[in-house]
Amino acid sequence: MTSKTAEAAQHTIRRVLDDKRHMPGALLPILHAIQDQLGHVPPEAVPEIAEALNLSRAEVHGVITYYHHFRSEAPKGAVVQVCRAEACQACGSDALWAHANKQAAGQNLTLEQVYCLGLCATAPAMSIDDKPYARVGATKFDHLLAQLKEAA
Ligand code: FES
Repeated sequence: MTSKTAEAAQHTIRRVLDDKRHMPGALLPILHAIQDQLGHVPPEAVPEIAEALNLSRAEVHGVITYYHHFRSEAPKGAVVQVCRAEACQACGSDALWAHANKQAAGQNLTLEQVYCLGLCATAPAMSIDDKPYARVGATKFDHLLAQLKEAA
């Protein structure tokens, strides 16, 4: 991270803390806001969050590592998420996940598992940079990946 980028990230973290630290149950909204704005929750944010909420660093770190949603490193390229929750599993997401892993190898993207994108009735579901896609099989996945490469 360049010093200018680090400074901008620091500014974002302080702004989020100022805005949300007094909310009841502020930790999760703070972590979500930081990740939404920076793409991840930088390890450097942990001590500041802990101090702002009067928690230990271990407590903050524990929450970040407990939830699959939170990343400690910046994602590489587009974020491709494949739903692995029950409705999607019942409609073939295991095969989609295996296919996605094969196709994503060596690509400039971050492939992640998620547990429900709210598209259960049109499973299996996935998202690319938070844009949801329903009824995704191997062919549709390959088409979406090709579109992603064209757009890059
Ligand atoms: S279970 Fe996959 S979208 Fe809900």
